[in-house]
Amino acid sequence: MAASGPVADGPAALAEGRWEEARAAFEAALARGEAETGQACFGLALALWWLGENHACVDRYSRVAAERAGAAQVTGVDLNEAMLTVARRVRADIDWRHGDAAALPLADRSFDAVLCQMALMFFPDPIGALREMARVAAPAGTVAVLVPAGLGAQPAYGPFVDMAARQAGPQARSLLDTYFNCGDLDELTRLFGRAGLRVTGNQTHGGTARFGSVDAFVTTEVESTPLRERISAGVYHRIKQGAREVLAPFTAADGTLAAPFQVHVVRARPSPDDVRETPGPFGTQD
Ligand SMILES: C[S@@+](CC[C@H](N)C(=O)[O-])C[C@H]1O[C@@H](n2cnc3c(N)ncnc32)[C@H](O)[C@@H]1O
Repeated sequence: MAASGPVADGPAALAEGRWEEARAAFEAALARGEAETGQACFGLALALWWLGENHACVDRYSRVAAERAGAAQVTGVDLNEAMLTVARRVRADIDWRHGDAAALPLADRSFDAVLCQMALMFFPDPIGALREMARVAAPAGTVAVLVPAGLGAQPAYGPFVDMAARQAGPQARSLLDTYFNCGDLDELTRLFGRAGLRVTGNQTHGGTARFGSVDAFVTTEVESTPLRERISAGVYHRIKQGAREVLAPFTAADGTLAAPFQVHVVRARPSPDDVRETPGPFGTQD
C-alpha cells in the first residue's frame, strides 16, 4: 500500500533522504495535532545522535516534541557517561540513556527512525550494532547512518594523514584514520546486508570543517587520539609544519582553515526476510 497523506509523507521523505520535507511534514502534523505517540511521523524517533547542538535534525524534532509534550519521543544513547552528562545539560527534553550500541537498552521494533551519526566507525562490532538498530526499528521504520567518506575522498584530511604517517610512522595512520574507516560505500552497504538491513538509498554530502588555524586543526586531530603521547615534541613540531604545507590550499590569508569534509548517509529498512506481519504505525511504505 502506498503511503499517502501528510502524516505518512514524513517517514517516506525520511526514507528517501528528503530531510527538509520530512521535518516539514512532521512539524505540520504536530501543529495539526495529528501526531501522537506511536502515530506521528517520528512518533518514537530513536536518535543515536549525541550532543549534537549543531545537528538540526534531532534538535528540531526534540524541540517541537517538547513544545507539544507527549506528541513524540526522542531517545539518545551513548556509552560515555561524561557525554551523557553534558547532553542532559544541553537538551534536558531528550530521553538520554546510557547504553552500548552492541546491546541497545531499547525494545524490539519500537522506533520509527533510528539514526546514527559519526559513531559507527568507533564500534568494535559495526555489524552487531547495525543488527541492534534493525532490531529496534519498526517494520516500516528507517535506519539511517552517517559516516565520513574514506580518506581517499577527503582532499584535506587524506594528505594530512599521509604526511603525519611519513613523520610518525604507521601508528599515526592507524590512529588518525579511525574516523574514516567505514567510509567505503560498497563495504558499508555490504555491512548493512550482513546485519539484516535492506539499503534503500545513499547520498554523499560535501561539507566543511572550519578551524581558527592549521595548528588548531592539528591539535584537534592529534590530541583527540593517543598519538600525542607516543611521539616526541620534535615529531609533533614537524607534523605541524607539514600540515601548514599540505593544508595550504584550504588556508585563507587570515590563517583560518576550511577543510572539505565528505560524508556518506546510508538509509535502510529491515530486510524482507525480517518483515513482520503487523504493519508499522504508518502502514506499509513500499
Ligand atoms: C564522534 S562522537 C559523535 C557524537 C554525535 N553523534 C555527533 O554526531 O556529534 C562518537 C560517540 O560515540 C560514542 N560511542 C562510542 N562507542 C560506543 C558504543 N559502543 N556504544 C554507544 N556509544 C558509543 C562515544 O561515546 C561518542 O559520544
